[in-house]
Amino acid sequence: MIWKKKELNVSNLKIPKHVAIIMDGNGRWAKQRGLPRQAGHRAGVENLRPVIDACIEFGVEILTVYAFSTENWGRPESEVKGLMRIFARVLNQEIYELHQQGVRVYHLGNLKGVDDRMQSKVEEAMELTKENDRLLLNVAFNYGGRDEIVQATRKIIESGVAPDEVSESLFNSYLFTAGLPDPDLLIRTSGEQRISNFLIWQAAYSEYYLTPIYWPDFAREELYEALVSFTKRDRRYGGLTN
Ligand code: IPE
Ligand code: IPE
Ligand code: MG
Repeated sequence: MIWKKKELNVSNLKIPKHVAIIMDGNGRWAKQRGLPRQAGHRAGVENLRPVIDACIEFGVEILTVYAFSTENWGRPESEVKGLMRIFARVLNQEIYELHQQGVRVYHLGNLKGVDDRMQSKVEEAMELTKENDRLLLNVAFNYGGRDEIVQATRKIIESGVAPDEVSESLFNSYLFTAGLPDPDLLIRTSGEQRISNFLIWQAAYSEYYLTPIYWPDFAREELYEALVSFTKRDRRYGGLTN
């Protein structure tokens, strides 16, 4: 039998322009299988490929993924090192395919404090793909929402902006996500129900979709389910439904 991708019709769905994902549960996925946590991280990173493909297929324009938080440095050194190794390898192996697919890769977070080689790899990836417009893939790496707000505040003060010029839109323009629309849909895998310092400014009015599925098992069908759920939401932004 020839394996055929299941037909998933999106013509009746509202497609969020910007989807953000907290890719959580790699460790528990591995534990469930009696594997080391590192195997979960490998499986997690590998799972990005089908999810990127599905975003392109469904017409999502921006995908922002939470890969490593400012708090994740607090994990055991061996796990942090292992994660960095995986990220470096994946950047090397996947960047050309992403480029050919028309994906623009962009980094959110602080590259200071990250290994020099990693830093230049990230910069090269952004440079190589900067003209691509099929999907914008933002990778939040060494990212923390509070850190982002503190850094934006510093830059505003350094620029000599007068207090009465500080507005929400001005503040937005100093964030890592400057120029991007806020996420419409924010997905968290693994059953946790918290934001964990991810896009705390930008997600003010995002729709949340929480699923117990561990990230390495989050497939095209699950993304589709999230879009079905999003379609049914009534986004009021503090106002009233028409
Ligand atoms: C997410 O999976 C990956 C990172 C935070 C880097 P976890 O490693 O947090 O997996 P759990 O939550 O322990 O299962
Ligand atoms: C959030 O997951 C960070 C990433 C997915 C990169 P964590 O596993 O670090 O979050 P907590 O500790 O459960 O809040
Ligand atoms: Mg976790």
